[in-house]
Amino acid sequence: MEVDAVLEGLWKFLVEEYTKKTPRSRQAFERARKVLPGGVTYHIRYLSPYPPFIERAVETKVVDVDGNVYDDYWMGHGAHVLGHSPRFVVEEACRAAAERGTHLGYENTLAVEYAELLTKVIPNVEMVRFTNSGTEANMYAARLARAYTGRKYIVKMEGGWHGGYDSLHTGVTPPWRGPESLGLPEDFIKYTIVVPFNDINALEDALRRYEVAAVFVEPVLGAGGCIEARREFLVEARRLADQYGALLVFDEVITGFRLALGGGQEYYGVNADLVVLGKAVAGGMPGAGAFGGRSDVMELLDHIRNPDPRRRSFHGGTFVGNPVSIAAGKALVSYLARNRVLYEESNRAWEEFKARLDRLCEEHGRPCWATGAGSMIGIHFTRSRRPWNAREARELRWSRVVERVANLYMRVNGILYLTEGTMHLLPSLVHTSEQRERFLKAFESFLDTLEETLKGRPWA
Ligand SMILES: Cc1ncc(COP(=O)(O)O)c(C=O)c1O
Repeated sequence: MEVDAVLEGLWKFLVEEYTKKTPRSRQAFERARKVLPGGVTYHIRYLSPYPPFIERAVETKVVDVDGNVYDDYWMGHGAHVLGHSPRFVVEEACRAAAERGTHLGYENTLAVEYAELLTKVIPNVEMVRFTNSGTEANMYAARLARAYTGRKYIVKMEGGWHGGYDSLHTGVTPPWRGPESLGLPEDFIKYTIVVPFNDINALEDALRRYEVAAVFVEPVLGAGGCIEARREFLVEARRLADQYGALLVFDEVITGFRLALGGGQEYYGVNADLVVLGKAVAGGMPGAGAFGGRSDVMELLDHIRNPDPRRRSFHGGTFVGNPVSIAAGKALVSYLARNRVLYEESNRAWEEFKARLDRLCEEHGRPCWATGAGSMIGIHFTRSRRPWNAREARELRWSRVVERVANLYMRVNGILYLTEGTMHLLPSLVHTSEQRERFLKAFESFLDTLEETLKGRPWA
């Protein structure tokens, strides 16, 4: 694209600025490349020309090894809904480790208490099981749904990211079909049907044509660009799942404890049969995953009711239910339950922020649109119209490089978010209005620079 060539000029200018500010990160990246594939611990953490190496995080900010301070809009992949490492959560986790043990491998009452709490605050969750990650939680939920219904097919949304579990590792990026990874045989995903998000006709068509065990949907597409569901879509998905005998599974790994304490179900007022949790469920500690739902479904995991392993659905794992993740999660969720008002304030503030972002896009001749719900915000460089699903967000892009340039521009201006391919923000409930203003100012200045650059005038 011609515009991309013009934007590469701006990119080069920004790389010079960034390189001046981050010599130690550059060195760290050179070392990392020798021992970590791609120089990173997870490819989505890569930012070009090299990522800032973060030394520490404090509340809503992170500091890199060169001492640069950034407002953080990535927040540990969205795990830190109350900011980085709230003191009382860390204290509870340390107390659990010191007084109970880091990992027991036996039953403990803390896990029972946390399960009781989750069943109180999350709608339609009568029973839960803990896992070590969101990926695992989705994997076991898929297994359970197949076990319960006796069916094989799973429906998921284009752009829906549920982790790297085989059956769900398709339809995440264009062309929205086939294995998303080398080493994942086609056969392993042959029972997975991918449909566009917010497209009720496509969903009904899939349900009509296949014997579907479960429909997996995020109430707000996360990695797919923070695109909110139209409420009617979720309402209809609920109705159609019932009509066709499939379970409705809400992947609330991001939306859980974020849109509302009870996640997307509470926010949209739509009931799921199974709910998948991750990230914040362990209060910012590793080992973050859980799934839960109706007890008649969850009881298929019960080995007392179903002594024959072949007549029940498996779930387990060495570290599941360890005191550290459980204590941290329980401390966080108890706090949120006592301070539900935070959600109202935060959702109102981020909705207003999103409206102002969108106005900036409008005032600059519509190079972009703001999407999302509550504290999940996407910015999409689709000039012609606002995207309602991941396919539209990708296909309507007017540039292949503008997201990367925007990311570096904001980074140089002290604002950090991932990824550089999709501009989506996952701020916490405790980001301040000053931070919102700072973001808006920096983004406005980016849009001014973009306008100037595309008109062929110098940007510096
Ligand atoms: C909606 C959703 N589901 C599942 C996962 C996978 O979770 P994890 O990375 O903990 O395995 C993610 C991770 O980003 C996610 O956003």
